[in-house]
Amino acid sequence: MRISIFGLGYVGAVSCACFGKEGHDVIGVDVSEHKVDLINSGKSPIIEADLEAYIEEGVGNGKIKAVTDCSYAVENSEISIICVGTPSQLNGNIDLHYIYNVCSEIAGELKKKDSFHSVVIRSTVAPGTIRQCGEIIEDISQKKLNVDFGVASNPEFLREGTAIHDFINPPYTIIGASCQQTEDQLKELYAGIDAPVYCLKPEESEMIKYTNNNFHALKITFANEIGNICKELGVDGHQVMDIVAKDKKLNLSPYYLKPGFAFGGSCLPKDVRGLKYRARMLDLKTPLLDSLLESNDYQVERGLQMVTSTGKKKVGILGFAFKAGTDDLRESPMVTLIEALIGKGYDISVYDSNVYLSKLLGKNKDFIAAHIPHISRLMEEKMEDVIARSEVLVIGNNSPEFNDVLSMIPEDKVIIDLVRIQKEKTSEGNYKGICW
Ligand SMILES: NC(=O)c1ccc[n+]([C@@H]2O[C@H](COP(=O)([O-])OP(=O)(O)OC[C@H]3O[C@@H](n4cnc5c(N)ncnc54)[C@H](O)[C@@H]3O)[C@@H](O)[C@H]2O)c1
Repeated sequence: MRISIFGLGYVGAVSCACFGKEGHDVIGVDVSEHKVDLINSGKSPIIEADLEAYIEEGVGNGKIKAVTDCSYAVENSEISIICVGTPSQLNGNIDLHYIYNVCSEIAGELKKKDSFHSVVIRSTVAPGTIRQCGEIIEDISQKKLNVDFGVASNPEFLREGTAIHDFINPPYTIIGASCQQTEDQLKELYAGIDAPVYCLKPEESEMIKYTNNNFHALKITFANEIGNICKELGVDGHQVMDIVAKDKKLNLSPYYLKPGFAFGGSCLPKDVRGLKYRARMLDLKTPLLDSLLESNDYQVERGLQMVTSTGKKKVGILGFAFKAGTDDLRESPMVTLIEALIGKGYDISVYDSNVYLSKLLGKNKDFIAAHIPHISRLMEEKMEDVIARSEVLVIGNNSPEFNDVLSMIPEDKVIIDLVRIQKEKTSEGNYKGICW
């Protein structure tokens, strides 16, 4: 395919070299004449393993050339890939003016072009930027988005030092296109890369890049805090983290990576507090570990705000053990939520078949009698009764008995879902998900 790549910095130079190697006709564009001259003489503008050899080969066989002329680049390509910088501003926001400048320049050229063109953002940008770029290009070019041109997010996952290897072996290819034609062009562009392709909404694609990088930062910081504690305890932190990483069932798996309600139960809150205390005894700072319970409390507060903002007073709780399939109520965040609502004078009824049974059979009777007699009095035997007498229904755990509950709740009642009882359901009408 014929592609133009705007910005010949780290990402742009590597993209030029690799797309050229894949057999595409690549025009690199930069405002820096020095970088353009370097590429045209087969040299790399940055230090990166194998990059210069790729560029030299691409320039030699006519697959890669570089220019400062935007007009030439747009005219002679079907796709323009933007790889300019998105640096941090003092307030933490990213500076998008390089992105918007390039979009404006490309739009000026599209005005004169008759064939369909795709504008793809490979730089790291905040969700919503792609749509903004589409509007800018539409305004300036006087062409119609998704008819005369398309826009897409297509983030890059390379690491400096292993950039060529990472380009050829990505974890996946993410395409967030505004229209089918642009999506198809990008699929064709990546046909030679052996990795799964995920086609998403532009905002999802933009968010994936941010989420990945924040997740990496989280993992590094977590490992460092654990390592610091280990060192003071005379434990080998690398040995600990190596074994932690071997658990692909719970630790490195999707298991605990689903947005939803707060964690609870008899282990996590206790053990988070316990390790924090131990670190304090060792005179260590653990800002990340310290933040866990605060963030967890915020999620309970968010659930509470969702209920109070309905303005309705009759609230039914469906599921209040901390997870499905248990009657364990110790440190259940649902208990905290219910207590807060009782304290505010809400009229509460509660259904949880596991807890109800254990109350009857006496399994968890002591806990219920000693700690939540006030909630236990609000328990109903039948889910239908709770639905009938409530104006707001809160789904508190994903017990299979709630699988069809959404269809049982009339439209005049508000549903607050803390667990996403139905996959792919998003907030709409009387249904409100806590983070979807
Ligand atoms: N560096 C990385 O490892 C990496 C990895 C993944 C994603 N990213 C993201 O990719 C983006 C680019 O990063 P980078 O490190 O390659 O940037 P960079 O600063 O190294 O390069 C940007 C290039 O864009 C050029 N440029 C600026 N305005 C231009 C214009 N109007 N027309 C043409 N060229 C123009 C600059 O001259 C410069 O050469 C950023 O959003 C970054 O966050 C970077």
